[in-house]
Amino acid sequence: MQPVSRREMLGSLGTLAVAGGWIGLTPDEVVAQESGGSGKALREYSLPPLGYAYDALEPHIDAQTMQLHHDKHHAGYARKLNKALKGLDAVRQKGGSGEFARIRTLTDALAFNGSGHVLHTVFWKNMKKHGGGQPTGSLARMLDRDFGSFDRFVKHYSKAAGTVQGSGWGILAWEPLSRRLLVFGAEKHQNLTMWGSVPLLVTDVWEHAYYLKYQNQRGKYVAAFWNVIDWDNVAERLSQAMRLTG
Ligand SMILES: [Fe+2]
Repeated sequence: MQPVSRREMLGSLGTLAVAGGWIGLTPDEVVAQESGGSGKALREYSLPPLGYAYDALEPHIDAQTMQLHHDKHHAGYARKLNKALKGLDAVRQKGGSGEFARIRTLTDALAFNGSGHVLHTVFWKNMKKHGGGQPTGSLARMLDRDFGSFDRFVKHYSKAAGTVQGSGWGILAWEPLSRRLLVFGAEKHQNLTMWGSVPLLVTDVWEHAYYLKYQNQRGKYVAAFWNVIDWDNVAERLSQAMRLTG
């Protein structure tokens, strides 16, 4: 089983995506460690490596789609996330009312591009060459408990992903308050989710994720996605999410 690094896991925890090496530290220790004591350091998000060849998921997801999706689309979300944060920093520094008129636009950009960056970061790790099959062990038992059976989960998730209105994501998430698994159909990247839930398995259903190969047949793409899932990665994310949100 390929272990999930702490940084990768924190990527799936959203707002903690740029943190690293801080577990067990106090807030003051984190500030001192990450800013060199100046309090001015601006930490940047970056595009994670894909981790496998562009054609590794053929024939289910084609190489050209993977290359464009990772190198262009995801890179754009990371770049615009950093741009939004720099814009907010500039607004705070200048402080005038004219500058603060930009807060709404920049805050929207932060949520959209930040959520896009987090979900794509999880998405690449959720897939592997020769993936598919079914989960085993504790993940399988939790899916049975929360959805009735693996087959019922697959039908539920596929329908949620396939019927997202416009662009969005199918998402299996750990919800820590009720300690259960939930399925969401998120619109764009940031809408129709639930605060605090941790994405474990995500399916990008934006047209850029499938249109070159599947054109308007999103359902066929979602069906093919089950053949590339790395269930070990999903199981490890569940274990880490439960430890970090306990
Ligand atoms: Fe995407």
